[in-house]
Amino acid sequence: MKPATSAARQTIHHLRELTHRQQIVLAGRAAAGIWAALRAWGFQEQVVLIPANTCYIVLWAVLHSGNHPLLVDVDRRTGNLTVEGLEQHRAARPAAVIPCHMYGLPAPMTAICQWAHANGVKIIEDAALALGATVEGQPAGSYGDASILSFGLGKMVDHQVGGALLTDDPAFAREVRRLLADAPLWNDTLRDLTNEWNSLYWALHQFEAQNPRLLTLYPPLFALYADLTVYQLAPHDWMGLPALLRQFPHQQARRTQLVALYDAALGIQPEQYLENKTLCQPLQRPAGTLLWRYPLLVQPQVRDELLRHLWEQGIHEATRWYPALRPMTTALAPQLSQPLTPVAETLGASIINLPLGEGIGETALQRIVEAIQAFEMNI
Ligand SMILES: Cc1ncc(COP(=O)(O)O)c(C=O)c1O
Repeated sequence: MKPATSAARQTIHHLRELTHRQQIVLAGRAAAGIWAALRAWGFQEQVVLIPANTCYIVLWAVLHSGNHPLLVDVDRRTGNLTVEGLEQHRAARPAAVIPCHMYGLPAPMTAICQWAHANGVKIIEDAALALGATVEGQPAGSYGDASILSFGLGKMVDHQVGGALLTDDPAFAREVRRLLADAPLWNDTLRDLTNEWNSLYWALHQFEAQNPRLLTLYPPLFALYADLTVYQLAPHDWMGLPALLRQFPHQQARRTQLVALYDAALGIQPEQYLENKTLCQPLQRPAGTLLWRYPLLVQPQVRDELLRHLWEQGIHEATRWYPALRPMTTALAPQLSQPLTPVAETLGASIINLPLGEGIGETALQRIVEAIQAFEMNI
């Protein structure tokens, strides 16, 4: 077998072991899996429920598939969807829901699946940030009618590019494969365009809250860059991934170790949820959590000041992902009326994510914590 073909096969083998799914469809990225799933089910102009704090590319994938995203507010303790939140939108007759395990915190999938099945709603489980997490005793990625994984830049397994759709339905998997086979192949032009768009988005989203006129730029930018939502990889593009997946158990252990170090250095007891009593507080971590990055909620009035302080100290890996999706959603789909999503907005204005995983050692972690503590002392 050619090494390239074998790389794709080995990737599939590893993913099957990690998620226990029968069908693994490799895709250029996770967003392509969302797009293909909605198309494969034949959905057009249907309502698709998405968390109001998820990654913007989920919104793009829904729009690009020809469907209508409806934002659902989330649990303030975890940033994840709840059945209570979904129930408020039953009257909208959604065709699908895309629950996400935000930051590697398991969403309540048993309850969400029960709700979805009772209401004839398809589930796309978004495990893009949660490979390796356990959700109510089962691997993340093992719940959805379709589940998606990402191996893009900064993900749990960072191969810079790549994603997968998982399912147990062979006929559905065949249709997804057929749709993805027509997608453009990842190439240097797509890479350049992706870098271009990422830089533009980073610049825009930082200022969109303080200068809402910037939102008028999203529709023309979506027209320019929406094609980046769906692509496929050539067999040789998978060559580096099996080795990364083999190292993953070691990385998982390292992540867990770093989380314990952050907790100890910041004086955080993860089982305690503090309800905004302190400047920085953790999200609540359900059993099975495997953190993607180390999320902290910072009081919104000083969040950006703290980030600036960290960036000035050279700590550029501290980020404010993920911002609330309302501004971009209303700019891209002004014809849809979106419900209020105050929790997602507060979380978006409070969240910072500190680095975990590969590039970070104990000294760097200590420096980040000290920088946060110095900031706390001065306010
Ligand atoms: C929560 C979430 N869902 C989905 C995606 C989409 O992943 P990809 O970039 O592989 O399309 C991302 C990442 O970009 C993400 O953070």
